[in-house]
Amino acid sequence: MNEKRQNLQVAQPWDTLAQVYAASRNVSADQLVEWPAQLKMCGSFQGKSVLDVGCGTGDKARYFAEHGAASVVGVDPSQGFSLNWIGHAACPNLSFAIGNFENLLELPETGQRQFDLVVSFQALMYAANLVKTVATLRSLLTPGGELVISVPHPFRFAILKNEIEGWGHGCAYQRTDPYRYPSPWKEDVFLEHGTPRISDYVNAIAAAGLRIEAVEEPAATEEFREIAPEKAAWMDRYVGILIFRAHLAA
Ligand SMILES: C[S@@+](CC[C@H](N)C(=O)[O-])C[C@H]1O[C@@H](n2cnc3c(N)ncnc32)[C@H](O)[C@@H]1O
Repeated sequence: MNEKRQNLQVAQPWDTLAQVYAASRNVSADQLVEWPAQLKMCGSFQGKSVLDVGCGTGDKARYFAEHGAASVVGVDPSQGFSLNWIGHAACPNLSFAIGNFENLLELPETGQRQFDLVVSFQALMYAANLVKTVATLRSLLTPGGELVISVPHPFRFAILKNEIEGWGHGCAYQRTDPYRYPSPWKEDVFLEHGTPRISDYVNAIAAAGLRIEAVEEPAATEEFREIAPEKAAWMDRYVGILIFRAHLAA
């Protein structure tokens, strides 16, 4: 690790990033490519109870609440993001809790109930134990419920590790131990998490007793290339995201 990287570590990266992340969302891969694909994978959520774990700003949770979900709970560990939730206070069927994958079953808002649709967008890589966490998410589903998981495409970190560390792409892909890298939103803030392979996600979903119904790898669209060419170029280089839709048999 070089000196610059060692000196710029922060304890709570998402607290530091929360506001810059929120401000950058209007013209972003998330808004223009990822969120439409995530939403499509959720299917109909009319009249359903929805749980969004790692909800960040809470904007996506609010969308579900305002577009037909019966009730929505958003959970995130970041105090920084929780400041955004104040702006959603007027939405009567939406609530939030500070929490994380590890304590979901102990939270009053989630531990005592089940949900028809559980989503987690771009957060599952932070789980301390992937297999255990997907099993926890499964236990929060009603029979017949759906789990939609969106994660950074594992190829992204293989490419990034190759560029930063010089490791071969294959070796970089196979190494799943926690990796620390500069965040795309503020390069002096570092993010750190495991880098599961595609098979790790698939096997965690299978081990939880869920059936994978669909997998998506959305690509940059022409509209995105026109509106945000630099961000589209970033996506062309680092692939984007991987989305799973999995079903719990009734
Ligand atoms: C890239 S943001 C995604 C936010 C939101 N889901 C979205 O799609 O805009 C990653 C989120 O994961 C959350 N996170 C980090 N560690 C977590 C954990 N252990 N459990 C749950 N969420 C976590 C962060 O606080 C952050 O809000």
